[in-house]
Amino acid sequence: MTTTPPALVPQVLLEAPLDKHRDAAPMQRQLHHRIKEAILDARLAPGSRLPGSRALAEALSISRNTVTAAYDLLAAEGYVQPDRQGTRVAALSRPARPRSARTTGNAPSAPVIAQRLAHIKPTTQPTVPRADGGVTLRPGVPALSHFPLAAWRRGVDRAIRRAGPAALGYGDPLGEPALRASIARHLGVARGVRCEPSQVIITEGAQEALALCVRLLSNPGDTAWVEDPGYRGAKAAMHAGDLRIVPMRVDADGLIATENDWQSQPPRLIYTTPSHQYPTGAVLTAARRLELIAQAQRHGAWIIEDDYDSEFRHAGESIGAMQGLVTQAPVLYVGTFSKTMFPSLRMGFLVLPEALAAEMQASLEEMLRGGHRYEQLALAEFIESGQFSRHLGRMRRLYRDRQQALREALTRHLLLPYVIEGGHCGLHLTVRLPARYPDRKIAEAARRYGIAPSPLSGFALCPMAGDNGLVLGYGNTSAELFAPLVHRLSQLIQAAEMS
Ligand SMILES: Cc1ncc(COP(=O)(O)O)c(C=O)c1O
Repeated sequence: MTTTPPALVPQVLLEAPLDKHRDAAPMQRQLHHRIKEAILDARLAPGSRLPGSRALAEALSISRNTVTAAYDLLAAEGYVQPDRQGTRVAALSRPARPRSARTTGNAPSAPVIAQRLAHIKPTTQPTVPRADGGVTLRPGVPALSHFPLAAWRRGVDRAIRRAGPAALGYGDPLGEPALRASIARHLGVARGVRCEPSQVIITEGAQEALALCVRLLSNPGDTAWVEDPGYRGAKAAMHAGDLRIVPMRVDADGLIATENDWQSQPPRLIYTTPSHQYPTGAVLTAARRLELIAQAQRHGAWIIEDDYDSEFRHAGESIGAMQGLVTQAPVLYVGTFSKTMFPSLRMGFLVLPEALAAEMQASLEEMLRGGHRYEQLALAEFIESGQFSRHLGRMRRLYRDRQQALREALTRHLLLPYVIEGGHCGLHLTVRLPARYPDRKIAEAARRYGIAPSPLSGFALCPMAGDNGLVLGYGNTSAELFAPLVHRLSQLIQAAEMS
């Protein structure tokens, strides 16, 4: 039998003495790290032998046990393999050089990230507000300082006390049964939605509900109709599902779908905000709602109804949800607590049609994990105890007053031609401006003053000349600020005028 002579100590392991200072990492860890790095850099070649433990211990003036312990750990991790003649470096495939975000090393054409992400354009608005929360007129934000935080904290405390440590474990993948039941009851009364708790899935805000609709009901390449101008989050969800987006124009009666649209590009999914079109504020008329439902039934399409802020009705009778208009409507109803409670709660829901809910139950239970259980239980109690309705009532009055004050400030201080749209419900007004006042430029200038309206053109998929204006959120801005803010905006708009 031939024996291999013991390996000499390679220079790479002797480059520097190990750090024996009291505060330094343990010797064994330092040695393990040094050998591992040398293996990963191929300075110790695959198949080469490590020096014997005695020789290495002597060369580094450390104990033999330290070397053996480092070798044992390297062997456990698979970097080396002990054999009868000592210890050999394992044959490892070398990791490639770090790749840039978009391309693989020298092969410039192969994208690293999914190509579909290229369709998701960055917003012109900062997604994270200033640390002091001091942005004004930002759309979509409810009155944060008016939320009954102390009552909510007590509710969460109660939920923790009642549910105890058992609720630290996974919950029902579709959401806490108590919350699903509360939502089903609330929607029936407040929005005319017809559903059983078993049809309700609790989601991480409306955004996850939209993503779920895409995942559950479409295949890559399918066609999705999306309102234009429309909600950016919906477009992102559709793009993320590799759908072919068809922009659908919107007028004062909501989404326009012609017979030609149904024939030439029949959709798999239709995204709409029928009760308060975002951002124009239009209401989809009853005739168009019924036609959309009938056509969707005919073509096997699904309507995603995003009812994001309808609880805050300011004028006339509440407009019921499309979902409850006819039985068995092919409608997936999406709702959120981002406006009615607060956005960072990240709680929303999806109401599936009855047949779909039954068919998808098993898949959903595999796909989802139940969490945020104490918050869900606290929210169920918040609804059942009547606190939710009272909070909605207070906020409805507050937003009505704020909208009125904003309208007055516009009348008094916006000294140029404009048209206000929407406002029958919700937290924003859309102000259309003549094309000579470019909305993106105005919004950018306004940000420097802590004013954050959204440019209307930023909501458009295929911007048309009229898609120019500002979406003004009044939810989280005090009424007394409107006059100076609109005065400033008026100056900025005039300064941005194109000659
Ligand atoms: C049209 C629309 N849908 C939904 C949402 C809420 O989304 P989420 O529940 O993910 O916060 C918003 C928020 O601004 C919105 O404007």
